[in-house]
Amino acid sequence: MLAIAQSAVLVGIASFPVRVEVQAERGIPTFELVGLAEAAVRESRVRVKSALAGVGVDISECRVTVNLAPADVKKSGSSFDLAIALGTLVALGVIPEESIANVLLLGELSLNGGTQSLRGVVAHLLGAKERGVVRAIVPRANEREASLVDGVEVELASTLGEIVDALRGQAPLRRPRAQKASAPASPLDDLADVRGQYGARRALEIAASGSHNLLMVGPPGAGKTMLARRLAGILPRLSREEALEVIAIHGVAGLLSPSASLAVERPFRAPHHTASDVALVGGGEHSRPGEVSLAHHGVLFLDELSELRRPALEALRQPLEDGFVTVCRMRLTVTFPARPMLVGATNPCACGNYGDGTNRCGCSPDAVRQYRRRLSGPLLDRLDLHVVLPRVDLLELQSGAGGESSAAVRARVERARAAQRARFRAGEVSAQANAHLSQRDVERVCALEAKGKEVLAQAVERRGLSARAYGKVLRLARTIADMDGATAIGARHVTEAVLGRVLDRDPTNGRPAETAA
Ligand SMILES: Nc1ncnc2c1ncn2[C@@H]1O[C@H](COP(=O)(O)OP(=O)(O)O)[C@@H](O)[C@H]1O
Ligand SMILES: [Mg+2]
Repeated sequence: MLAIAQSAVLVGIASFPVRVEVQAERGIPTFELVGLAEAAVRESRVRVKSALAGVGVDISECRVTVNLAPADVKKSGSSFDLAIALGTLVALGVIPEESIANVLLLGELSLNGGTQSLRGVVAHLLGAKERGVVRAIVPRANEREASLVDGVEVELASTLGEIVDALRGQAPLRRPRAQKASAPASPLDDLADVRGQYGARRALEIAASGSHNLLMVGPPGAGKTMLARRLAGILPRLSREEALEVIAIHGVAGLLSPSASLAVERPFRAPHHTASDVALVGGGEHSRPGEVSLAHHGVLFLDELSELRRPALEALRQPLEDGFVTVCRMRLTVTFPARPMLVGATNPCACGNYGDGTNRCGCSPDAVRQYRRRLSGPLLDRLDLHVVLPRVDLLELQSGAGGESSAAVRARVERARAAQRARFRAGEVSAQANAHLSQRDVERVCALEAKGKEVLAQAVERRGLSARAYGKVLRLARTIADMDGATAIGARHVTEAVLGRVLDRDPTNGRPAETAA
């Protein structure tokens, strides 16, 4: 008879349903697998045959045909084993047909019938829930991930034998135990360790409050890396939905340890400046998410930004604009979410001493401009807020007086975010933070006081702000006003926002920089 089992394949972080049709009967021994299956899927035949023998079912005298539908979706991976094996058992009348009806079956089998953990369980279960699938059987090794999604009744199995027993109504399978969301194993670094750098601290807080991309410029040793690493500790904790999305992406990338639980802190990714385009934006042979997606809902920190190769900068441009990455591979188009906060750090010039007040910089004005130009164009344009860090004063470093703690700053950031959410709800805007407002929405929801309008008009005139830069100043000013608890944007909010775009000017002469947006 023809049996039908439900499985799924990952396309990006979307779980796409796959119907596994199995025809099995006594006959000339063959085992055919059709339906655009990659090599790893075809090897399933060997594993399934051996695993079935383990539960006492010999298919060496059977004619088995398996079709994976729909036929136009490429099937990769080894997680169809379970569905193929159980479909065969139904087709041979070993287990009842209705026992696997509308049950999502996922998992690779080993030759002795054991189930092997698979990638992307959270993504699969979220997809199943969306499709209205109410039951799923997954490998026992995926228990932690399986426990995170509610709305689907998940059962765990260590072996094919256990499943057969359960489906015949003998011993039921175990349900995943609920896991608690956990704080990171090692506590996050605290802002209290940073001495001085008040301007940069303020910029970091503004950036966090409105999810603005930030560029830090300063001499080596000023604390740029140190500050960036403390950003996750002042951003609001992940909501449950955000955490699930993050874990789905990391699961698809195969980056979750078996002990992974729902994270509360935002991801912080700091790829090296030599990272390839594929490593940064994703794609490649297995269509895995890149750093920009792994940092989704968190921070993508690009240290030594001026050293990043041009193609990498170019590749990041579109995702940062759209909030997602589309990678095409053969006939498959895969989309990954990609909305991190981008933080860049760079020296001000090749020697690193330009503008630190010590006159030690030996770079010519042209060389400084040249160095700055490397940043401009594709990326500088996407960095809303720029801050210049002075060299840290030795006295300040030794004085021992630390700054405010991350917890205190986070409390303020959360308040500013709450004000934004309330405004977005009232204005029926779908953004999460000011930085993500569209050009249209920014005009609509960012009301200016008369004085604020005046200052902004002056800035446009004097600094020659482009339309894009204008929008950025307005979003920044909105965030600064939110930190202030103000309903309308005032003059001082606009002034600080304009000052926060220092790189719109040529560093060597203070005129509007020709290369910036
Ligand atoms: N503002 C600061 N407060 C305290 N320590 C600092 C500060 N700036 C730098 N340091 C010390 O110097 C080290 C190097 O700083 P780092 O953040 O790597 O500088 P940068 O990235 O600007 O080159 C840090 O690990 C820290 O020990
Ligand atoms: Mg550094």
